[in-house]
Amino acid sequence: VDLSPFNTLRLPARASRLLTIADPAQLAGIAGDAPLAAMPKHVLGGGSNLVLPDVVDGLVLQVGIKGRRVLAEDGDAVYVAAGAGEVWHDFVMWTLAQGWGGLENLALIPGTVGAAPVQNIGAYGVEVKDSLVELTAYRLDDGSARVFTHADCRFAYRDSVFKQEEAGRWLIGEVVFKLSKAAALHTGYGDIEAELAGAGLPRTPAGVAQAVINVRQRKLPDPAVIGNAGSFFKNPVVPAVLRDALVAAHPKLVSYPMPDGCYKLAAGWLIEQAGWKGRCLGPVGMYEKQALVLVNHGGAQRADVAALTAAVQSGVRACFGVLIESEPVWW
Ligand code: EPU
Repeated sequence: VDLSPFNTLRLPARASRLLTIADPAQLAGIAGDAPLAAMPKHVLGGGSNLVLPDVVDGLVLQVGIKGRRVLAEDGDAVYVAAGAGEVWHDFVMWTLAQGWGGLENLALIPGTVGAAPVQNIGAYGVEVKDSLVELTAYRLDDGSARVFTHADCRFAYRDSVFKQEEAGRWLIGEVVFKLSKAAALHTGYGDIEAELAGAGLPRTPAGVAQAVINVRQRKLPDPAVIGNAGSFFKNPVVPAVLRDALVAAHPKLVSYPMPDGCYKLAAGWLIEQAGWKGRCLGPVGMYEKQALVLVNHGGAQRADVAALTAAVQSGVRACFGVLIESEPVWW
C-alpha cells in the first residue's frame, strides 16, 4: 500500500498491510488471527502530524470510527462524545452549529478527533485538554477497552501519555468533551481580537471560529495544496535566567511567560532569525509565511525531512544556543 495519500507531508511510504478500523471490536479479531497478531501495529488518524519512513514495517490501522452523540446536559454544560475517526474541523463546526462553545479556537486544525488528545492540539491560547473529559482507548494487542480520565492522559504542551509511556499501545476509539451553551471566549492571543474587529465578526463562539479560520488561512499552508505537517518544531521552554540572557543579546526575542516561571520562546522567530524562513534544502523548506512549518515542495522523502530538521536545529543552536525539538511523531 502506498501511504502518500494518507499523510499530509505527502511522503511516499510503503506499508505491507492497511486495515480500516470502523469498529473497535475488529481489534479482538486481529488479536485472534495469528499472522496479523504477530505484526507490529501503527495507528493512523488524519496523518497530519506524522513523518513516515520509506517502508512501514507491519500493519497500519486506519481509524474510521465515526459518530457524534450527546451524553448529557447539565445547565449550560453539554457532554458530547465523538468517534476517533471524525474529521476534527468538521466536528468543531458541528458543535458550533448546535450553539455549543469551547472548541472554536481549535477550528481548522488538520487531523481527526482521535489524534487530538495524543498531542494535545492547541491554538490561540486554547488546548484540547481544556474541554476533554475522558476517552476510551483499546489495547492493540487484545482489543480490551480502558477509559482514560483527564488525569490519566497526563496532558502537557503538545504532549500526553500517548506520546510517552503508553506510546504505541492503544487505539483511541471515542473522546468525550464538555462544551458550554454560555462559553467564555478566549480572544486574547495574537491576531484574534484584531480579526474580530477588522472583519466585523460577532463576539460569539462561531465568530471566534471564523476569525481563527481567517488568520490560519492567511498564515498556514493548506495541506491539500502544499504538503506539510503544521508546526514542525515545538516552541522551546527555557528557564527565566536563560530567557533574560537571550533578551539582553537579542532585544526583539519573542517569549511568553509560563505558569511555572519558565518562558516559552517562539520557535518561528528563532528559525526566521537563523535565516531559515522561506529557505529550502532539496525538495523541502521552511514556509515563507510561517517559519515553523516545514513544507514539501514535491518529491520529498524522509531523508530530506531529516536533513532539513537537523540543519534548522543546528542553525538555531548556533545563533541562540537553544535546541528546538521536532513536533510530529516519527514512525
Ligand atoms: N514568528 C516569527 N516568524 C515566523 C513565525 C512566527 O517571527 O516565521 C513570531 C510571530 O510574529 C509571533 C510568534 O512568533 O510573535 C508566534 O507565532 P504564531 O502566533 O504564529 O504562533 P506559533 O508559536 O508559531 C503556535 C502553535 C500553532 C498554532 C499557533 C497559534 C506550536 C508548536 N505551534 O505557533 O500550532 O496554530 O501557535 O496559536 O505551539 C501546530 O501545532 O501544528 C500549529 C500550527
